[in-house]
Amino acid sequence: MDVLTASMDVLEHVIAWRRDLHQIPELALELPKTVAYVTQVLKKLDIEYDDTYVDGNGIVAHIAGTKPTDGPSKDFVLGMRADMDALPIEEETGLSFASRHPGKMHACGHDGHTAMLLGAAKILQASRQLFSGTVKLIFQPGEEYPGGAKPMIEEGAMKKPDVTQMIGFHAGHLDNETKSGQIGYRVGPMMASMDRFLIEIEGKGYHGAYPENSQDPIAAAGQLITALQTIKSRNIKAVNPAVVSITRVQGGYNQNVIPDKVELEGTVRTFDDELRKDIHAKMEQIANGIGQAMNVKCKVTYDYKYPAVINDVQATESTVQSLEELFEPNTMVELNEPLMGGEDYAYYLQQVPGTFLFLVNPGHIEGEFHGHHHAKFNIDESQLYRGTAGFVKVALDYLND
Ligand code: NI
Repeated sequence: MDVLTASMDVLEHVIAWRRDLHQIPELALELPKTVAYVTQVLKKLDIEYDDTYVDGNGIVAHIAGTKPTDGPSKDFVLGMRADMDALPIEEETGLSFASRHPGKMHACGHDGHTAMLLGAAKILQASRQLFSGTVKLIFQPGEEYPGGAKPMIEEGAMKKPDVTQMIGFHAGHLDNETKSGQIGYRVGPMMASMDRFLIEIEGKGYHGAYPENSQDPIAAAGQLITALQTIKSRNIKAVNPAVVSITRVQGGYNQNVIPDKVELEGTVRTFDDELRKDIHAKMEQIANGIGQAMNVKCKVTYDYKYPAVINDVQATESTVQSLEELFEPNTMVELNEPLMGGEDYAYYLQQVPGTFLFLVNPGHIEGEFHGHHHAKFNIDESQLYRGTAGFVKVALDYLND
């Protein structure tokens, strides 16, 4: 089979699916219309699925190859993941197929991810005689928030049959090293871990003219903001990437009242699970120390969210080799830098080897690309066949001896 031709042939379906999904964006772990839409397509394609994941908001489907073999590929299961959730943004693209749900928008390209995977499903379902083993299609909710990969895995998405390798794409344009039509990859760290912290500083409010009678949480917050910066600069090896950002400071009323309480909130990014724990511990130590010195209570809440996306060496190399055979020269671009952004695809890669790739297809609105999570974000639909073709080619290579 000529995979590129087959993918171009289903592109009109992929674009139609993407546009339909684009009009019904849903958030987080509540995707009833999206799941109904995707399962209706799977049903038409005569593909078996289970849509009971995450209370009916995630879908796992199988396509079993029929090519006879005694080789190892009969037990191989390639997991292909698409996230289906959107963002709480009011769409401003002016597209004819713009969101019909007020305040919600597919502003990260997940509509494209789902459509590309359905395109691959259509081709693979019609080509079962060309591979052994199994393709597993994983459609998950909640990538943006609060995380859907973890519950999908906990509910058995990677089991029966057990996934042995993973592949996933992110569309749009996330990195700075590629241009439209290319595919970015990386061996090892691809995207950072993503944790959230909250520090509640509790003191005692008083009249602003008599600070001696207060336990001032604002003065303590100032010390804390400065001291937290030293985690990165003084406690972590310079060659080890990490970000500690305070993104919200909240407290106080007006010019003559010292408040009771101040809150600091922020994010921590790294590529190393041990480092996440170290940063958390150091944050507690600094908060307690400053709290004691400034006579306030500092309560740290550290939420371990997504781990880092770490692409497996062998799975990435074999995937890239397949894709280099498929696409024209200079399509595959090895990225020099990982991204400090997070992705819950990371959880799949904690289970089995696999790789995550960037399909570069920025779409223009009013002549420019507006970036992910922007009200005028768009993807170039004409490039979606590359994701479809990539899924199919890797499946045909991996699931053959
Ligand atoms: Ni995304």
